[in-house]
Amino acid sequence: MTAIPPEPIRGQFKGKDIISLGQFDTDCIAKLFRITAQMREVALSAAPSHVLDGSIVVLLFYEPSSRTMGSFDAATKQLGGQTVVVTSPQQYSSVAKGESFADTIRTFEAYSDAIVLRHYETGSAATAAETARHVPILNAGDGIGEHPTQALLDLYTIWEHTGRLAGLRGLVAGDILNGRTVHSLIKGLALYEENELYLLAPPELRLARDDLAAFQQSGIRLYEVDDVGDIPRDCHFWYWTRVQKERFRSDEEFQRVNNRFIVTKQLLETYGNRDMILMHPLPRVGEIEDAVDDDLRAVYLRSQIRNGMYVRMALLALVLGRIA
Ligand code: ASP
Ligand code: CP
Repeated sequence: MTAIPPEPIRGQFKGKDIISLGQFDTDCIAKLFRITAQMREVALSAAPSHVLDGSIVVLLFYEPSSRTMGSFDAATKQLGGQTVVVTSPQQYSSVAKGESFADTIRTFEAYSDAIVLRHYETGSAATAAETARHVPILNAGDGIGEHPTQALLDLYTIWEHTGRLAGLRGLVAGDILNGRTVHSLIKGLALYEENELYLLAPPELRLARDDLAAFQQSGIRLYEVDDVGDIPRDCHFWYWTRVQKERFRSDEEFQRVNNRFIVTKQLLETYGNRDMILMHPLPRVGEIEDAVDDDLRAVYLRSQIRNGMYVRMALLALVLGRIA
């Protein structure tokens, strides 16, 4: 699917599609994070919120999801809005009768104030944004392209722990080639000065060469490594990822590269900085040992998950124009 590039946010969230981290600048991320902190208070308070009263958000998910679906659903309801949940439309909607993607988007646009879309094709969210004339599209993951709302919650989690988003050294490990969360995260970190990332992956799962060149041009320093011995011991964060099984042509190809790098207690003790955080977008399927979960640096089952709901509450309130 090809589409025109999404419009930059430039301080004006109302009515904007959220397709790529490339739409953001540091000012609008700062604004989003200020509102995210307020949304945390709203969620923790017992008092009902009416910020999204009268709004309906469609959750249209062509691929499986626990966190993105669950947190967008909860975020809408936390703010007094309602959702229409459409999972596996290929099976349960009129897509199964042959209805086109464009007609599907037009149909759900007619019932809603925003559509959260997850789809297996890269570029699908941008295509949907061109089709939908009246409601914003929020990209909940498009193939191996991007997962911008995940990267925003990842950035928020880093900011919460380090107090800044510039001058950071991070390690990103696993499936850099197919990991859409990684692609958005790199774009986000590239907006700030003096960031550098070590990308730990088997050679087969390195960034596509044109993506590497484009990211490097944007100013972030990227170092590709394929041995745990190359992990610098002073990283501010590690960001581990799952090898994206569903993107491989065969199980054999997948098994060849799966779980080459696993976070064990010993790896964390040897290479981890005492003050760093260990993140993972989840689901994890073997690449972080359960024994690591008790380490206080492991935030993937703690703040990182919860921050997803707070960031999505803030985004919905902003794009629906309920908070300026
Ligand atoms: N949940 C994230 C995504 O949908 C990461 C993953 O599935 O590995 O991109
Ligand atoms: N992190 C994330 O997108 O998780 P889900 O695939 O479960 O939504």
